[in-house]
Amino acid sequence: MSTHSSSPVGRQRPRRLRQTAALRDLVAETRLHPSQFVMPHFVLPDDAAEETIASMPGIGRQGVTPLLRTIEGDLKLGIRAVLLFGVPAAGTKDAAGSPAYDAKGTVPRAVSALKRAFGPDLVVITDVCLCAYTNHGHCGVLVDGYVDNDLSLEPLTRMAVAHAAAGADLVGPSDMMDGRIAALRDGLDAAGHVRTGIMSYSVKYASSYYGPFRDAADSSPQHGDRRSYQMDLRNAGEGEREALLDAAEGADILMVKPALAYLDVISRVRAVSTLPLAAYNVSGEYSMVKAAAANGWVDERLVVRENLHAIARAGADILITYHAREALREGWL
Ligand code: PBG
Ligand code: ZN
Repeated sequence: MSTHSSSPVGRQRPRRLRQTAALRDLVAETRLHPSQFVMPHFVLPDDAAEETIASMPGIGRQGVTPLLRTIEGDLKLGIRAVLLFGVPAAGTKDAAGSPAYDAKGTVPRAVSALKRAFGPDLVVITDVCLCAYTNHGHCGVLVDGYVDNDLSLEPLTRMAVAHAAAGADLVGPSDMMDGRIAALRDGLDAAGHVRTGIMSYSVKYASSYYGPFRDAADSSPQHGDRRSYQMDLRNAGEGEREALLDAAEGADILMVKPALAYLDVISRVRAVSTLPLAAYNVSGEYSMVKAAAANGWVDERLVVRENLHAIARAGADILITYHAREALREGWL
């Protein structure tokens, strides 16, 4: 017989609050809402085009016409923010990445179409980086094979201004050049875009989890890798420094990328800044779940729910994830 006084268990019994779903929901510390999600999109230069991406089941590359339909459907699920990656017209990539700042390029045209169709109901965020637009696939301008920091700031700023002029709500620099937030902020302000915000990829690691994305965006470096500008995966304190620098330079939203392999970094950045914090659940993290689920090795619904809550529990306010549409449509959260 077990009475309170003779039981080895004290008065605190954490299991009391786990007895029913209603009790568990009542005391849940982390809740996900559709308005926290950002759905990424790969935009093709040909308006009518639509392609699949072999390494990212469920995610496609679309021209403006099918893109509008897709986003209209996502809005009905409650997804109110998109992140756009552009694919330039065939044969236009050059050493300077000049199609990146073409005012009539893939992304500016998509942004104007989305703003015309959905106005303030949709938050349009654009990725600002040169790698999909340079013939060498690096995120900045090369001088003797090295990505020159300061020379890269001008084309990146022009790209951000082109996106802002088309109506982007937020620009998202993902290049990892030093001083880029200050350069973009000054450039946007000088062009009259004081109301366009910056969601900075502040803490972006040189990660092997970007593989499927580079197929989708056709943005692989043609030589070398990105370790001279993206962060070393061994460092977390440096992540705090990068985040604080971007905050001081005028970023409106900070980001940690990738998300799942860097939950410690999310929680450290959360602790040192009160700015809104985004986490990017990247392509490789997505594709691994899809592959394991397709093989029947994990239950996709439960694993996606667990991963997305982990990212929020670590401290992210905003979740950029390829799972967004399916998770909301299927009620996985
Ligand atoms: C471009 C960029 C990359 C991603 C977002 N912006 C790739 C890279 O830096 O090589 C990765 C996103 C993903 O893997 O889902 N700089
Ligand atoms: Zn890049």
